[in-house]
Amino acid sequence: MTRITPQPGIMDIALYQGGRSHLAGVDDVLKLSSNENPLGAPPAAIAALTEAAAGLHRYPPTDHAALRTAIGAVWGLEPDRLICGVGSDEVLQFVTQAFAGPGDEIIYTEHGFSMYPILASMAGATRVRVPETERVVDVDAILTGVSERTRVVLLANPANPTGTMLPEGELERLADGLPPCVILVIDGAYAEFAPGYDGGIALARERSNVLVTRTFSKIYGLGGLRVGWGYGPRAMVDVMTRVRQPFNLSVVQLAVAEAAVRDTEWRDSCVALNVQQRARLMGALRQLGLSCDESHANFVLARAADAAEADAAEAALNAAGILIRRVAGYGFPEGMRITVGDADQTGRVIAALTRWREGAAA
Ligand SMILES: Cc1ncc(COP(=O)(O)O)c(C=O)c1O
Repeated sequence: MTRITPQPGIMDIALYQGGRSHLAGVDDVLKLSSNENPLGAPPAAIAALTEAAAGLHRYPPTDHAALRTAIGAVWGLEPDRLICGVGSDEVLQFVTQAFAGPGDEIIYTEHGFSMYPILASMAGATRVRVPETERVVDVDAILTGVSERTRVVLLANPANPTGTMLPEGELERLADGLPPCVILVIDGAYAEFAPGYDGGIALARERSNVLVTRTFSKIYGLGGLRVGWGYGPRAMVDVMTRVRQPFNLSVVQLAVAEAAVRDTEWRDSCVALNVQQRARLMGALRQLGLSCDESHANFVLARAADAAEADAAEAALNAAGILIRRVAGYGFPEGMRITVGDADQTGRVIAALTRWREGAAA
């Protein structure tokens, strides 16, 4: 070989595009482009951050025992079936890297989270994208897409950017229909925003091929901290742990995440706020003639008549200092994904869009 050569798949990776955080000329931007918690991080987590400073000269524990114990206690899970990563993205990387490689296939769905094809290519595996039905994951399409080479199926429930979700019965039908050698990953980045939904935990508890992932980035307001976790069968967690770097989480990440997960009262109050403001936002968007499916997450996907109308709506929001996320890359050129804010922030979004519609009608 005469020159450096990347591994197969790497050059197929288009860099992940995060939500914008700046608007030229606006100091006080209302950022509703990355599904962050409008209330910020829990106070207990911020206190833990200060305390953790005293231990910065120490290497962190490699086993994450205290954090896994806390997660297990709060969610009723066996700590030895948990694995923690640098965001749930890293947990997704563990499973794809450890179980798929060149010649294998990873399935994800038409409007699935944009990290899924990236993760497939990072593993050197072949990407298999299957259709959805009316912006909802289609179990039959996934089952049809399974081949002898399929190793992993990645889906988020609730899904990003649609906000739609499969009922637990459909998840079970999917798990039943997959061959036992195919891993079903139920990405629960937004699971807490769907009260009553267990995030696929019951399925993961009883099956040998189901993994659930969760994050501290959304409901816990800790996107900047980068912590997530997975819950799966012991044998799968054992394999994934072998590709996890021993010191992947810092003393700060471990301490702050542990304090956050234990603050269940704060978490529940954030869920309640989201449910209330989400219903308000969806109602207002529909009244303003922007379609939206019922969202089960902390954002709403508003769909304009076409891309030009969405451009105009986005411009009106930007003029009011509000940033949202366009999702053309997900197959929705007419779409605007708007994070659900607090009452005041939601009011600002509704007011800006109302002024825009009134202006267009004048
Ligand atoms: C569906 C889904 N899964 C996973 C993630 C990754 O979250 P994190 O790595 O911050 O835990 C996100 C982030 O936006 C997401 O939307």
